[in-house]
Amino acid sequence: MVLGRGFASGKVILFGEHAVVYGRPALAVPVTQVQAEAVVQAAAPGSGLTIVARDLGEQIAVRDAPADQPLAAAARLALTHLGLADPDWLITVHSTIPVASGMGSGAAVSAAIVRALADAASRESANQQISKSATRNTQYATRNTQYELIAAEVSALVYEVEKLHHGTPSGIDNTVIATGQPVYFVRGQPPQPFPIGRPFWLIIADTGIRSPTKITVGDVRLAWQQEQTRYEALFDRIGAVAEAARPAICAGQTEALGPLMDANHALLREVGVSCPELDALVATARAAGALGAKLSGGGRGGNMIALVTEETASDVADALRSAGAVRVIVTAVGQAA
Ligand code: PMV
Repeated sequence: MVLGRGFASGKVILFGEHAVVYGRPALAVPVTQVQAEAVVQAAAPGSGLTIVARDLGEQIAVRDAPADQPLAAAARLALTHLGLADPDWLITVHSTIPVASGMGSGAAVSAAIVRALADAASRESANQQISKSATRNTQYATRNTQYELIAAEVSALVYEVEKLHHGTPSGIDNTVIATGQPVYFVRGQPPQPFPIGRPFWLIIADTGIRSPTKITVGDVRLAWQQEQTRYEALFDRIGAVAEAARPAICAGQTEALGPLMDANHALLREVGVSCPELDALVATARAAGALGAKLSGGGRGGNMIALVTEETASDVADALRSAGAVRVIVTAVGQAA
């Protein structure tokens, strides 16, 4: 029997990756075509909490898992937050978000686990109240709101897990994934969701190169330590691009975003996080009619994004596939699901 469920979408960073780690603003949006899902079921008495990661073919007994096992860490943090000990539950996790490619798969899986546990806790508790009641009828709630989590709680829990993946995460991934809305994000400040004035089309194309964010973020830190003035100036310029993009998106001035994406990609190349495969896909997208293109996320692999119109989307997608992209997602940002 299913006791609870949790979902979370993937995300892409539109502008500002890496500079966001150093206090500059960044913009990120959810990508609802790819999702993580966690389903909680009852398990044998005494078994404790077990996680089955379907895509990885792994089964993790939470009570025995090492502290840095990310799925177990997400579950433990959620249980502590919810005031639960070690329930006899089985959580099955499944995700269509590509891993280590800048789409927030780690954060989304954690968010799905946290939400599923909160959902199961609220239903279990409501059911216990119902069965204790002499007059069992439908006027009783089937969820106990005491266990419902707001986005900020999900975000804070996922951030703790993100530290295991990333080392020094800015917090943008957990924020956009927990809120499920486009966000303007500055480290240490409350996230600012922003409206999309007019939906716009993005192509997200995967180089197929797995590139853990922790490594690129660490390499950028080393380079920044050696050349602080140069890197601070690059981060300032990236921050200015993100600042310019937000009002354009809010006002529905999609055409303005293409040159801003191109400028952001050029700056990320200078930061040292592009790679020949990303540069090739960016060039291919532009040649096939994209209004602008850039890498997205940690870089040195993973995904690039290209701004297209409904008319150019399929040409650009075909060109990217022919140029070696292993996965191409076409998404309308800001369109009601
Ligand atoms: O998770 P990714 O690969 O989308 O990268 C996160 C963005 C970075 O700015 C590179 C790191 C961070 O913590 O913000």
